[in-house]
Amino acid sequence: MSELSVDHLLGIKYLQKRDIDLIFETADHFKEVINRPIKKVPSLRDVTIANLFFENSTRTKLSFELAEKRLSADVINFSASQSSVKKGETLIDTVNNILSMKVDMVVMRHPNPGAGVFLSQHVNASIINAGDGAHEHPTQALLDSYSIRERLGEVAGKKVVIVGDILYSRVALSNIFALQLQGAEVKVCGPKTLIPKYIHTLGVGVETNLRKALEWCDVANMLRVQNERMDISYFPTTREYAQQFQLNKTLLDSLNKEIVVMHPGPINRGVEITSDVADSGQAIILNQVENGVAVRMAVIYLLASKIKQ
Ligand code: NCD
Repeated sequence: MSELSVDHLLGIKYLQKRDIDLIFETADHFKEVINRPIKKVPSLRDVTIANLFFENSTRTKLSFELAEKRLSADVINFSASQSSVKKGETLIDTVNNILSMKVDMVVMRHPNPGAGVFLSQHVNASIINAGDGAHEHPTQALLDSYSIRERLGEVAGKKVVIVGDILYSRVALSNIFALQLQGAEVKVCGPKTLIPKYIHTLGVGVETNLRKALEWCDVANMLRVQNERMDISYFPTTREYAQQFQLNKTLLDSLNKEIVVMHPGPINRGVEITSDVADSGQAIILNQVENGVAVRMAVIYLLASKIKQ
């Protein structure tokens, strides 16, 4: 099989294991390309991609843009804060206007869950979900699994704990789907108020004691509390959150094995993770960022090859 089973990347829940394998094999090739002196390939010279960001982003936006440029695609960028969305234009009108400029692919980040699915049903372009509210963030989960595979050889059979705000984090849900699809075992850890009640239906274990969770796992993925999505307080104070759920060096060094530490960024140093852990040899946070470009190149390349047919 050399093509994806999907025409859009809307969420990990729409993918099959063989899609992930194909994305990773393709990303291996692109990782080699971006480490060459000339980091660019001509593959997507005739493809135009619009990056539509209706929500803030640093890493993801830059990573997609770099991936597109390294594939030689033409790229246009759009940020909601500078757009006519503020003047009352609907999402479909905004996107159709952009598509009439002959755009082939849309990478979209949007605060509403399901925005990517909605768009894929109404416009004629390949859609990549770069994060839809608290729902899914498929390329983040792919680059996370790719980074685990790189560090530990494979994802199958590994024990991964996702720590922090599981309720509001799209990184958590996409990671759960991706890790399980590849045969990893997943637990979540965080304040009970930030763990969704339906979590057991996903086949995910819950551990509210961070030390126990860390002793169980091979990999800990530390998530940021998504304060911007909350209109009430889910725990007493940030200090108390950190006391119970922060990964610090004393805790890390007291474990009886070397675990791998991950974080999707942006990091809140001193809240979910301390600086000495984030900057330690056990953390693969910057590898995740580097791999993000190769994995996004793979996704874009594979989806674009379906458009051309
Ligand atoms: C994440 C996101 O936007 O969901 N960041 C990212 O894409 N690297 C995580 C977060 O904001 O905490």
